[in-house]
Amino acid sequence: MSLKIQISQIQAEVESTMLTDAQSVENFRIHYLGRKGIVNDLFELFKQVPNEEKKEVGQLMNGLKQAIQIKLDSGQNQFASKSKQIEIPDATRSHGDWPFGSRHPLQLVREEILGIFSKMGFSVEDGPEIEDDWHVFSGLNFSPEHPARDMQDTFFVNGQPDTVLRTHTSSVQVRVMETQKPPIRIVMPGRVYRNEAISSRAHCQFHQIEGLYIDEGVSFADMKQVLQLFTEAFFGKAKIRLRPSYFPFTEPSAEMDVYWGLETPADHRITKGTGWLEIMGCGMVDPNVLAASGIDPEKYSGFAFGMGIERIAMLRYGIDDLRHFFENDMRFLSQFRKSL
Ligand code: DAH
Repeated sequence: MSLKIQISQIQAEVESTMLTDAQSVENFRIHYLGRKGIVNDLFELFKQVPNEEKKEVGQLMNGLKQAIQIKLDSGQNQFASKSKQIEIPDATRSHGDWPFGSRHPLQLVREEILGIFSKMGFSVEDGPEIEDDWHVFSGLNFSPEHPARDMQDTFFVNGQPDTVLRTHTSSVQVRVMETQKPPIRIVMPGRVYRNEAISSRAHCQFHQIEGLYIDEGVSFADMKQVLQLFTEAFFGKAKIRLRPSYFPFTEPSAEMDVYWGLETPADHRITKGTGWLEIMGCGMVDPNVLAASGIDPEKYSGFAFGMGIERIAMLRYGIDDLRHFFENDMRFLSQFRKSL
């Protein structure tokens, strides 16, 4: 029997085959297109076809192959796809262990600190990062020649001497005192900028939380009590000390240290063997500062404090390099997932 006749018989056979279920589709595929199937047999025979007939027979074979493929595709669509549909994931099922994102450690620390002060009756205030000289320096009793105004510390916007990126959140104190009457009891978190290009570890921006409490008869003892309560609540450590210091906007000024302990080698390292760690600056608001913002220093007194969030977060989580906070390395950030 010539190959041409065989092909047309097979073609008729294909056309009359009834595909009734997934199994019959699979059998059909193996019978015709399998490794030892009919199409491969035909290609073997095709090799013996005389050259002058090859074109015609080749076309017939291709037509047959196409007919087989079309039948197979329609069978697979009709039957096999039903079993595939079952594999579509159930959209209502629980998400299981898909990874969550995490909150940034600086955010966690900031919220915790604000939470502690809010329990003590402080509310949160915000202010601009691009500021004028008055709110960052002059209104805070900085003398015109104070070194903090220097180009080395302060970023000037567009080279204008009166437009700066705030170097501390103390500027928000001035803004609030200008617009609110005592009693004022606020905390002011925010980003600050300093032009510290001196070491590769230095960062031109970081975060602070500022505090301000103004009312009649507010004393240094009130300040000490508030800072003591904060330290106990945040660090779980009870011993603090206030060391005399200097800030233009407070008089007297102090630095608050917490007794960290000397139990582990790390304690020795971070406290430089003293057991004490500096946590924040603070002091009684200088009467000049109150007067400059329109608050009568004869009637009112107050205290202020300021701390760096990065430093506190480093202590809280045992982080030894500031750069971790800014690099957004998932291996670092994902460790804070459990703190959500
Ligand atoms: N503004 C100071 C700084 O950036 C921190 C500070 C010290 C804030 C004492 C205060 C304060 O409110 O009373 O270093």
